[in-house]
Amino acid sequence: MCILIGTMGAGKTTVGRLLAQQLDVGFADTDELIEERSGKAVQDIFVEDGEAAFRAAERATVAQALEEHDGVLSLGGGAVLDPATQALLAPHRVVFLRVGLADAVKRVGLGTGRPLLLGNVRARVKHLLDERTPIYEGLARHTVDTDGREPAEVAAEILIAIQGAPS
Ligand code: S3P
Repeated sequence: MCILIGTMGAGKTTVGRLLAQQLDVGFADTDELIEERSGKAVQDIFVEDGEAAFRAAERATVAQALEEHDGVLSLGGGAVLDPATQALLAPHRVVFLRVGLADAVKRVGLGTGRPLLLGNVRARVKHLLDERTPIYEGLARHTVDTDGREPAEVAAEILIAIQGAPS
């Protein structure tokens, strides 16, 4: 299994799908799994139930996916803040998709559908990058830069990185 982490706008879902196709394995995204299970969009869970409820669902979903999914798994940007999740990730092949502020802001656009960005998208993304980059770096076996690059180029670099490394 290969796990993609990184902040919103890093391209985890797009690159993850491509990578899974190339490896001929399944793809799962924890936000999508949470939405399927709850029958609600992530933003509605934040608004109706609150962030704490979302994080609890996310923690359980990530744990189950790490147990059961065998392929490429993309985690929601904030999933790695949870210490229990951090511990579960330790034995896995974790790839950090790095993105700088300018590209992240470009990719998330107005941030619709991403409740944590409401208000000032650029300031919110900067805050999340500053707070989380050390965590992503600490958990990753490989780091791949995504700034100015197409998803296919990023997926190709991940493929090279993971094929040249022990699982
Ligand atoms: C979040 C990232 C989102 C989603 C939720 C919270 C975060 O996932 O889980 O809006 O805390 O960074 P993506 O990183 O896939 O956008």
